[in-house]
Amino acid sequence: MPVSIETAFTKQIGVKYPIICGPMYPCSNPELIAAVSEAGGIGVVQPLSLMYVHGYELHDGLQKIKSLTNRPFGMNVIVEKSSEKHEKYMRKSVDIALEEGCRFFITSLGNPQWVVSAVKKAGGIVYHDVTARKWAEKAIDHGVDGLICVNNRAGGHAGAHSAQELFDSLKSFGVPLICAGGIGNEEDFINALKMGYAGVQMGTRFIATKECSEKDDYKQAIVDTNEKDIVLTERVTGIPLSVIRTPYVEHVGTKISPLSRFLFKYPLTKKWMRMWYGFTAMRKFKHSNLYGGSSKDYWQAGKCVSHIHSVESVADVIEKFVSAAKKDNN
Ligand SMILES: Cc1cc2nc3c(=O)[nH]c(=O)nc-3n(C[C@H](O)[C@H](O)[C@H](O)COP(=O)(O)O)c2cc1C
Repeated sequence: MPVSIETAFTKQIGVKYPIICGPMYPCSNPELIAAVSEAGGIGVVQPLSLMYVHGYELHDGLQKIKSLTNRPFGMNVIVEKSSEKHEKYMRKSVDIALEEGCRFFITSLGNPQWVVSAVKKAGGIVYHDVTARKWAEKAIDHGVDGLICVNNRAGGHAGAHSAQELFDSLKSFGVPLICAGGIGNEEDFINALKMGYAGVQMGTRFIATKECSEKDDYKQAIVDTNEKDIVLTERVTGIPLSVIRTPYVEHVGTKISPLSRFLFKYPLTKKWMRMWYGFTAMRKFKHSNLYGGSSKDYWQAGKCVSHIHSVESVADVIEKFVSAAKKDNN
C-alpha cells in the first residue's frame, strides 16, 4: 500500500506532516513544542506542565511558543471532572488558547462536549484520546473530529490494545485516526501510515531530542534502554504508567497496596484517590525536573525505546521520517 504524508489529518489541521508531539507532563517545554511545529509537524501544549514545571503562566507560555514559530500548535485539555477548580482552570485555558490562535485541541479522560462547542465556534478542531471503542463512541457522539488511538506500546498511560487492533475497531467511525504509541523510527512511522492511520503522535522519541529540556541522563536512558526494561507501575498515578525499570523502580515495586486498590475501586473514594495520586505525581515530576534526573526518578517512556539510538534535533527526526516515507513510495 502506498503511503502518503498528506493525509486527512494534515489537511484538516493545515500542517505539512502527519506528526504530533504529544502533550507530556513534565516534558513539554515550549522550545520542544515550537521545534516540532516549525519542522512541519504539530507540537501540543500540556498546560499544567507549562505552568507548574516550566514556570510560565499559560498566556506567557503560548506567547513564548509563538515567538519561536508562526506555525500551528495544539493544546491538551484534561476534561475529567476532578474538581470544580480544575474545570474552571481548563475552561479558562481553552479561552486563552483560542485567543492566542490555537485551533487544535486534544481532549483526554472525560466528556469533551464543552471543549467541542467552544472550539467549533472558533472554527477549530478537537481530537479525543481513546484506548478502546466504548470511549470512542462517546467522544464521536459529542462531535469530536478525530481520535488519538493510544495503544499498548505507548509512553505515559498506555492502552491495552495493539495499534492494529485499535485501528480495526475504530476505522468504521470514518474520522482520522492517529497512532499514539510505539513510533520510534522511520519504519514504525511508515508502518502506522500503511495500516491506515492518518498520522502519528509521539512522546518518547521527542524526549530524546536536543530541544527537550529534560536532563541528559533521562534522554540517555531512553537511548540505552531496551523495551524489555519498560514496565507498568501503578505507584505514580494509581493507574498503570509506562516507565523505565531503574534500580529505584525495582526497589519500590510497581503495585499499589491492597487498601489503595480498594479505595480506587470504591465509587465514593475513587475521585479522592485519583486527585491525591495526581497531585503527588505532579509534585514528584516537577521535583525531578528541577533538581536533575537520577535513578530515584520515574522516567516515563514507551516501548519504542528499542528503536531510538541517539539524541537528535527535532528537525532531523522529522526530516528522516518524512524522507523515508517519500522513498518508500518510489
Ligand atoms: C513523559 C510522558 C508524559 C506524558 N504525559 C501526557 C500527558 O500529560 N497527557 C497526555 O494526554 N498524554 C501524555 N503522554 C502520552 C503522549 O502524549 C503520547 O501519546 C505517547 O507518549 C505516545 O507514545 P510514545 O511515547 O510511544 O511515543 C505522556 C507520555 C510521556 C512519554
